[in-house]
Amino acid sequence: DKDEDLVTRSPIVTIMGHVDHGKTSLLDYIRQANVIAGEAGGITQHIGAYEVTLKNGRAITFLDTPGHEAFTAMRARGAKVTDIAVIVIAADDAVMPQTKEAISHAQAANVPMIFAFNKIDKDGANPEKIKEQLAAMNILVEDWGGKYQSQEISAKQGLNVDALLDKILLESDLLDLKANPDKGASGTVIEASLDKGRGYVATILVQNGTLRQGDLIVSGQNYGRVKAMFNERNQRTEIAPPSTPVLILGLNGAPQAGETFKFYSDESEAKDTANRRAQILREQGIRAKKHITLDEIGRRLA
Ligand code: GTP
Ligand code: NA
Ligand code: MG
Repeated sequence: DKDEDLVTRSPIVTIMGHVDHGKTSLLDYIRQANVIAGEAGGITQHIGAYEVTLKNGRAITFLDTPGHEAFTAMRARGAKVTDIAVIVIAADDAVMPQTKEAISHAQAANVPMIFAFNKIDKDGANPEKIKEQLAAMNILVEDWGGKYQSQEISAKQGLNVDALLDKILLESDLLDLKANPDKGASGTVIEASLDKGRGYVATILVQNGTLRQGDLIVSGQNYGRVKAMFNERNQRTEIAPPSTPVLILGLNGAPQAGETFKFYSDESEAKDTANRRAQILREQGIRAKKHITLDEIGRRLA
């Protein structure tokens, strides 16, 4: 629809890289450094995706799921979740097999990459060597005359992490990310499970439209009205605009990770759609409502 009013949305970012190169340390630092005053220590639950609001008022949503799994699930379902991939490479190590895998996943999904050369506080750190190894793979960073942004960082000390975040925002500006907050929500399920006491819980990422408490959605073979929504700080919220991750209650089952969801206005249509899909899956011999994780999808496709 060419006439719809599109507004800028914040970027959705995945952090990828080889084992122990510092992905979790980087996410942890970003999260802690951007905790809103009065909310220190307020991260009470893990929801697989979270939004940080930077001091300049802009927001970035990070997918807190091992990057290659997010990409695998996404590809398996044809959904696109990530706008930007940050490839973390320990500068005291080298471009490693999972670094190459991360790069090829991002390239296959046509997702722009930013390189973070981590652990520059360490004695053996040699970012120039890493840039050389990347160049041998035809990946040239900007200071080697190429198109890829890169940043030397220490996730452990928080060194230059702000500069990395600025580069993410710059990339986001170049991508000119837009969404229409005035329509019914659509997006992707990040993870879902059956929670003792709360019923089915799903962490979803709203990619377009706005999700409101009480809205009816369908995701795969499941449907339901959003009974309650929570942000990553376990605070109730009643509205989730584009690029917002939220944990929702109210679905009648746990959709598979990477499954898309969509707003429905008509209850019987929603129910019919979900039930028809469940029927098809049953006929295909896939047990209905089985919860499968991103990890499992990755393993099955490996
Ligand atoms: P996996 O999830 O296991 O793949 O690892 P990861 O990429 O999440 O790495 P993680 O953040 O767990 O860091 C691995 C180790 O490197 C930990 O002992 C960190 O403390 C250490 N580390 C991470 N970043 C830095 C850094 O900037 N400097 C130094 N010196 N150590 C770091
Ligand atoms: Na680790
Ligand atoms: Mg980790």
